Amino acid sequence: MSVAAGPEPGITRPVPPDRVRSISAAFAPERWYGNRWDLHYTRAKLASDPLYPGVCEALRGSGAPVLDLGCGLGLLAHALRADGQQMAYHGIDLDAAKIQRGRRAAGRAGLHEVVLEARDLADPAFDLASLGHRGNVALLDVLQFMPATAQQRLLEKVTGLLVPGSRLVIRTGLADGSRRARITRAVDVFSRVVGWMGTAPGRYPDPDLLRASFDAAGLESRFTPLYGRTPFNNWLVVARPHGSGTTHR
Ligand SMILES: C[S@@+](CC[C@H](N)C(=O)[O-])C[C@H]1O[C@@H](n2cnc3c(N)ncnc32)[C@H](O)[C@@H]1O
Repeated sequence: MSVAAGPEPGITRPVPPDRVRSISAAFAPERWYGNRWDLHYTRAKLASDPLYPGVCEALRGSGAPVLDLGCGLGLLAHALRADGQQMAYHGIDLDAAKIQRGRRAAGRAGLHEVVLEARDLADPAFDLASLGHRGNVALLDVLQFMPATAQQRLLEKVTGLLVPGSRLVIRTGLADGSRRARITRAVDVFSRVVGWMGTAPGRYPDPDLLRASFDAAGLESRFTPLYGRTPFNNWLVVARPHGSGTTHR
């Protein structure tokens, strides 16, 4: 395990403006009077958050399929394709309306090998293994919305899906007692109250427990701050089977 000393060059920058425009165009309403929320949201998200460049960087070089758990609108699929990464993408999210809008946007953008599906990851009856996925797994800003027991169960299951050369890429706040951690939680609570998020935040992972669970699963892991210019306590955590090369390229 290693903890990066500070933000790495290349993952502190958001998406370049021309790419922001071309990706977000797929989320514009089909008629002029349609709802523009997704268009504005995707524009603002891509333009301000280093999340997608960070995840694209972490996945670059692995051609293995990506399972994106808590995928929202499936924006990662657009970012990967814009980055020239063509691996199969399967996104899963609790919010069926978001999935439907995400499917429409993926279709409009002409993305190939992109599947979006509405499922509840916290449902004990949902069997991740039934998806038949082996390869990369992304968990971006979703762990905190799941109860601690469901979080732990999910992490155990996803580590079993990794194959040599693939990566588990997590973006999450960490319960490290910092001021940033308190701000992150307050904004998540606010998002729930105003209806932006359908689920209230539960608990952020404890970094020491997270590391210990990776070590126990035989994974090497690296924790890198992914604050960008935000006040949040965001970290990019990349874990991979030992001997699969370096965690960051
Ligand atoms: C902050 S959004 C992140 C979306 C996406 N990963 C991204 O980074 O753009 C969190 C997402 O997790 C989803 N989510 C929360 N709890 C979930 C659960 N139990 N099962 C599936 N998805 C869930 C929400 O519906 C929401 O779309």
